[in-house]
Amino acid sequence: MSTTWLVTGGAGFIGSNFVRLALEESRADKVVVLDALTYAGNLENLLPYLEGDKRLVFVRGDIAKAPDVEAVFAEHAPTQVFHFAAESHVDRSIDDPAPFVYTNVLGTQVLLNAARRHATKRFVMVSTDEVYGALALGTTDRFHEKLPYNPSSPYAASKASADLLAKAMFHTYGMDVVITNCSNNYGPYQFPEKLIPLMIMNAFAGESLPVYGDGLYVRDWIHVEDHCRGVMAVAERGRAGETYCIGTENEQPNIAIVRKILELTGRDESLIRYVKDRPGHDRRYSIDPTKVKAETGWSPQIAWEEGIRSTVEWYRSNAQWLQRIKSGEFRSYYDKMYAGR
Ligand code: NAD
Ligand code: TYD
Repeated sequence: MSTTWLVTGGAGFIGSNFVRLALEESRADKVVVLDALTYAGNLENLLPYLEGDKRLVFVRGDIAKAPDVEAVFAEHAPTQVFHFAAESHVDRSIDDPAPFVYTNVLGTQVLLNAARRHATKRFVMVSTDEVYGALALGTTDRFHEKLPYNPSSPYAASKASADLLAKAMFHTYGMDVVITNCSNNYGPYQFPEKLIPLMIMNAFAGESLPVYGDGLYVRDWIHVEDHCRGVMAVAERGRAGETYCIGTENEQPNIAIVRKILELTGRDESLIRYVKDRPGHDRRYSIDPTKVKAETGWSPQIAWEEGIRSTVEWYRSNAQWLQRIKSGEFRSYYDKMYAGR
């Protein structure tokens, strides 16, 4: 039976890494990307497959607009949905929660409805560990699947709402839904507003590295490829209606990451600038990945030292990719590819 994967948000950071992996490893016969190309969507992330691989179809559309979503389901009849599309940056959600409710909550509900109507075999809801709230420093507490949701930021609250809608579709209609809650990702093609690519970009340019508050906030970092493989493992072997926390047991304080990036880029610590803290800043995240490992056989392959080194190298070798984001030129790619169609 032929397989068609619908990947929402496939022009973003994690979605595009997922699509690349799926095509490289021939995981599906066809991959359809549905993406609105917001400020964070970059079609250049999908090169060269977009131009040379007929298995990849790109559709520009808004997941919160039912006609956009219906058209994709009607034409491509996806066998599985991998739902990555989201507003994803906590700082932006603090400035204005509205787009987060629109895309993350309403958009998820529109997609779930379409998947149900079209009897899609499995819906994979890609979510975040931030739904669980914050952990204290100096404890061994970790997030796991049985913890109640306790989100702090508007971003986390919108993702928690989306997860609950997905769970409700399982309980109410028996839809086959699985949910992944993953920790902070890093790796190639991450939009340079998030900690790691921002610091790498600024260090290359000799510009200051803004560290929020005391810099002792802790995140549990996973390489994006390990996350993508985790999502695939859950899609293949996860149980319907279940949640899987994905992480690599790699807690790092922000300041340690910033120092590592300075070391890898050959810059000194005079670039560090402590700046005003983020309001409501979650102190620590940490994932217990026991369940996903036991039930799906997934385990991470990329150790932190190697992952951060290769990530800095990737941004060094792809300076043009960064430059085209800085200048806004990356936006013209869509017009060049799709003008007149
Ligand atoms: P991103 O911001 O890089 O990409 C999001 C993509 O979604 C973009 O291509 C954007 O154009 C698209 N999009 C936004 N609104 C849309 C809409 N209304 N309709 C269609 N497309 C739309 O995000 P990311 O970092 O790749 O995150 C992907 C998913 O993974 C998100 O659901 C996020 O919550 C989750 N997640 C991210 C992390 C992380 O560390 N980045 C960790 C865990 C989970
Ligand atoms: P971020 O990459 O925005 O991810 P999230 O908020 O979803 O965890 O931030 C990661 C951590 O880095 C978080 O503790 C906030 C901090 N941070 C800074 O100190 N400076 C920055 O410029 C940014 C973007 C983040």
